[in-house]
Amino acid sequence: MALVPSNVASLTPYVPGKPIEEVERELGISDVAKLASNENPLGPSPLALAAARAAAAKVNLYPDGSAFLLRRALASHLGVTPEEVFVGNGSNELIELMVRTFVLDGEEVLTSAQSFVAYRLAAQAHGRTLVEAPMKARFHYDLEGLKARANSRTKVVFLANPDNPTGTWFTERELVPFLDAMPKSTLVVLDEAYVEYVDAAGYQDALALRKRYPNLVILRTFSKIYGMAGLRLGYGVARPELVGFLDRVRAPFNTNLVAQAAGVAALGDTAHVEAGRALVREERPRLEAGLKALGATVAPSQGNFLLADFPGKVGQALFEKLLREGLVVRPVAGYGFPSALRFTVGLPAENTRLLAALARVLAA
Ligand SMILES: Cc1ncc(COP(=O)(O)O)c(C=O)c1O
Repeated sequence: MALVPSNVASLTPYVPGKPIEEVERELGISDVAKLASNENPLGPSPLALAAARAAAAKVNLYPDGSAFLLRRALASHLGVTPEEVFVGNGSNELIELMVRTFVLDGEEVLTSAQSFVAYRLAAQAHGRTLVEAPMKARFHYDLEGLKARANSRTKVVFLANPDNPTGTWFTERELVPFLDAMPKSTLVVLDEAYVEYVDAAGYQDALALRKRYPNLVILRTFSKIYGMAGLRLGYGVARPELVGFLDRVRAPFNTNLVAQAAGVAALGDTAHVEAGRALVREERPRLEAGLKALGATVAPSQGNFLLADFPGKVGQALFEKLLREGLVVRPVAGYGFPSALRFTVGLPAENTRLLAALARVLAA
């Protein structure tokens, strides 16, 4: 008898961005900058930090398993009812929970090839069939192609908007015909991890569409603009019946006491969110122009990161050279972009340092 099912044996684990401490230890250097995981370089909100500190004194107690206060705060922040809100240990857990709760044996998970790898991992870990539509024009979701691959077995569709690792997005005009074509028995998950950074014309976050499409599930996170990736807190919005099913399947205390308290406080710190947005609004175009000046093809991005392709170069080799310069960036060969790297938009000095190091590394 096999120890594990073949779908588990063949899983390739998720490769996270290298932690700063690990790089400093391995290379014997200090002053390492991490531009690899789309974290907020401004840090967490001071209000969230104060709430986390206060909550830390109470960690002898179990957290509120229903996350009542956090769900109420999220509902008021989003203009939905608390019954529509669910929370998880990062939105990554919620991606996995969608598959675990809803996708039966013989049913399919549909997503875009080269999009966020967690969708593929979740399907594979549960032995469910994954169907992928290729991207169009290299970096963009092809909603028509996805529509063509949907069938009566398609149970969950994952759409990242904006996408990771490309940063590209699709508009309401593209999304609505796709939603119209999906049967109500197919759940469409809009993963909006980077929604707070978006200012593109024609972009519509899915909240406004949820009444029209009861099969919509929206996922968001405190890991990106809220600067709380280390606390692991994600959330979603769906119709109460679906939330009820997710509640039955999730672990009883899937979000911890410190994260819940910090999350409530973070929602109240609009100045911190605005500062994160302003940083990216200023720095992303500068970094993009700098990368283009170095000969890169850069995918248009609405996230806090840029995917840059360096024709004729090997992304992994560039990554290793940048590492030696004290810069941790993200190789994306695993996503099918072997000559590209993904760069998180950092602080102004970090972006300047990155462009200077890249110029050296590309010239070598
Ligand atoms: C598109 C997208 N969805 C979800 C996540 C997961 O975020 P977390 O589990 O930290 O909430 C990420 C993180 O990189 C992401 O890029």
